[in-house]
Amino acid sequence: MAQAERTREAVVEAALARLDLSAKTRLLAGQDRWSLPALPQIGLKSLVMSDGPIGVRGVRWTADDPSIALPSPTALAATWDQDLAHRAGTLLAQEARRKGVHVLLAPTVNLHRSPLGGRHFEAYSEDPYLTGVIGAGYVNGVQSGGVGTTAKHFVANDAETDRFTVNNLVSARALRELYLAPFEFIVENAHPWGIMTAYNAVGGTTMTEHHHLVNEILRGEWGFDGFNVSDWTAARSTKGAIEGGLDVAMPGPTTVYGDALAQAVREGRVEEARVDTAVRNVLRLAARVGVLEGAAPAVTDLPDLIDGEDLAREIARRSFVLLRNEREALPLKPGTVALIGAAAHDARVLGGGSATVFPSRIVSPLDGLTTALPEGTLGYAVGADPSTELATARQDFELSAVCRDIDGTVIGTCRVPDGQIHWSGVELPEGVTIQRLRTIELTGTFTPRETGRHTFGIKGIGAYRLGIDGTTYYDDVQLLDHDDPFSGLFDAPVPRAEAELTTGEPVEVSLIHHVTVSEDEALMKDITFALAHQGPRRDPDELIAEAVEAARAADTAVVVVATTDRVESEGFDRTDLRLPGRQDDLVHAVAAANPRTVVIVNSGSPVELPWRDEVAAVLLSWFPGQEAGAALADVLTGAHEPGGRLPTTWGALTAAPVTQVVPKGGELPYAEGVFIGYRAWEKEGRTPAYPFGHGLGYTDWTYESVESDGTTATVHLRNTGERAGREVVQVYLSPDEPGAERPARWLAAFAIVEAGPGESAEATVGLPQRAFEIWDEKTDAWSFVGGSYEIEVGRSITDRRLRTTIRI
Ligand code: BGC
Repeated sequence: MAQAERTREAVVEAALARLDLSAKTRLLAGQDRWSLPALPQIGLKSLVMSDGPIGVRGVRWTADDPSIALPSPTALAATWDQDLAHRAGTLLAQEARRKGVHVLLAPTVNLHRSPLGGRHFEAYSEDPYLTGVIGAGYVNGVQSGGVGTTAKHFVANDAETDRFTVNNLVSARALRELYLAPFEFIVENAHPWGIMTAYNAVGGTTMTEHHHLVNEILRGEWGFDGFNVSDWTAARSTKGAIEGGLDVAMPGPTTVYGDALAQAVREGRVEEARVDTAVRNVLRLAARVGVLEGAAPAVTDLPDLIDGEDLAREIARRSFVLLRNEREALPLKPGTVALIGAAAHDARVLGGGSATVFPSRIVSPLDGLTTALPEGTLGYAVGADPSTELATARQDFELSAVCRDIDGTVIGTCRVPDGQIHWSGVELPEGVTIQRLRTIELTGTFTPRETGRHTFGIKGIGAYRLGIDGTTYYDDVQLLDHDDPFSGLFDAPVPRAEAELTTGEPVEVSLIHHVTVSEDEALMKDITFALAHQGPRRDPDELIAEAVEAARAADTAVVVVATTDRVESEGFDRTDLRLPGRQDDLVHAVAAANPRTVVIVNSGSPVELPWRDEVAAVLLSWFPGQEAGAALADVLTGAHEPGGRLPTTWGALTAAPVTQVVPKGGELPYAEGVFIGYRAWEKEGRTPAYPFGHGLGYTDWTYESVESDGTTATVHLRNTGERAGREVVQVYLSPDEPGAERPARWLAAFAIVEAGPGESAEATVGLPQRAFEIWDEKTDAWSFVGGSYEIEVGRSITDRRLRTTIRI
């Protein structure tokens, strides 16, 4: 242990010794939704946590507290660039410090077990090694800025259906080789100051009580010395959690810790030493992030400031994956462009759920291309609007919240820029207390952009009254149809009013919510509701016909297709991989009208692309973050090449090997064992639409030679194209005799090289020992499998250019 750490440990021990049982157990429970209590008697300030992972939302869920929004984690992984992940993390630490946040609830390092996973966009890859490398870069980056991380959700939280109760049945081998592997890699290579234990159970034990996985493996075998926080509301029992190694139960103050834990110690049901261990872990974290008096923080020399907008744009263009580029459709040639698609105008820049942050600006593809292309060369048509649901009342609304007491007296007001209220107990507007608050009225004006029938709706549970232009359309109670406590956040809004309105003529809107939160539950319960809206719907065939006309008249058609909040979000899984609405019809029709059709796929996870052979180019933009359109313009114009490679196989659902995400009788067997992602596609002998690792740039590469001594591999390659470029050199390991138990090949290492036209480049990568090992369930240990292996080097798992044999 380094001297600084020894000194910090001594301060932690001294602080612990000065706390009584009640203070100790209080420290292990949230004092509210996002923070732990301060303990002035030992000079401890309140520790504040926040989501994660693409930005730092802070302790308020509102557009009034903006954060930089980086591209989705799938996008970050598509860069295959650990240094870039490190820079992303460093920027997020800067954002966290700006907002008084000490611990970022990120990164999400669960795996893409199935493309149906609702939070697929929030995890990195189907490959545990790539996940570990990107995750470690991210954690090192955040912590270099003196802010803690919680790698999450430990472990096997790879789908959303019944996430609070599902019992995932995973073999020890699959756990070790796949699901635990990124956590292990991150613990070893980034030394995270925290971990978040998941909602689900593994092998019959809920993860917040999993003594074996937490105390024995994570802490025991791997030497993790950070704090273990529950996922929000995941802690279920006082004794089970403390004995299972859970340090902090969030959110609070009503939890299984606090008084309940003190009581359990007093009654002899829990040993006080267990409480001390947990408190020690929390105090160590506090010392590291600099909120424990007398302890030097882990980072005293902060990194240089980063320009968040620039970095968001750089990551986005480096993450875009060019799947196909026929007839040199990209970069765009001079000429006219017809930009088509609802998401070209209203870009979908991030995935839904707790990963939501509120950027202060969003550059849509239309904005980005308008700036980048010569005046008069760009036209726009909607083509198809995939959104089947009402959007929160942001655009064209001017709203504020008026809070009243039982007599109707106004006790506080605030602006509501995005039509939604999400207040936890401590975040009420100034002057408002939960004791006095009876109603919240979202009120203001709406100025329609289009004449026609406008629909208004309500998102949230409870009693509401909705009035538009003086007419009351709804006065009743909206009920819950399932038991996810976060459904107020994730459920679709319900249409409740339709009104004929005229362009430019403002109308008054009012949505009154009757607050029923009692004083006792005030700190635990969120007040969450929103006003939602949808403009007049156009005939879908007419919209497509209009877009086809625009495409026919232009030199190039650029169609942006996208998923919606109903497709990709926390809280539920997907049931198919189709693009919503009429978007597939739109692309077929546009491609038939213009041979130079370029499709931009704006989704966080795989979708089916049934028209992919009909169009000239397909570019994945993922959820590109706030600088979406600027980055897109960089890549379409050729100012930069798209840098991404698929971190996950893209294919049709009917061909996908692992699709079971719905538990039966509360259990979800991971029956495929170690065969997920490309390991499974290869085993089944199926051909995906686009393989793992695939992605084109704007130059060509010739792979010239590979040598390996079994511990490293050296690859020589040459840029044989006409412009400078960057290449992700992928090294796969293929055993001569895999048998039924081992995949045909797997990613062992990779490196990024850059070279100018005609120049050569060299990449030397280490071949990790773990790449040659399997988990032996008989001996309960890693086992090195010697023998003959092919080292295969190439541009994707199927485009392997060179090989050499090693015997070890
Ligand atoms: C999510 C976590 C998140 C937490 C706090 C949970 O529902 O699963 O990833 O960090 O909420 O928002």
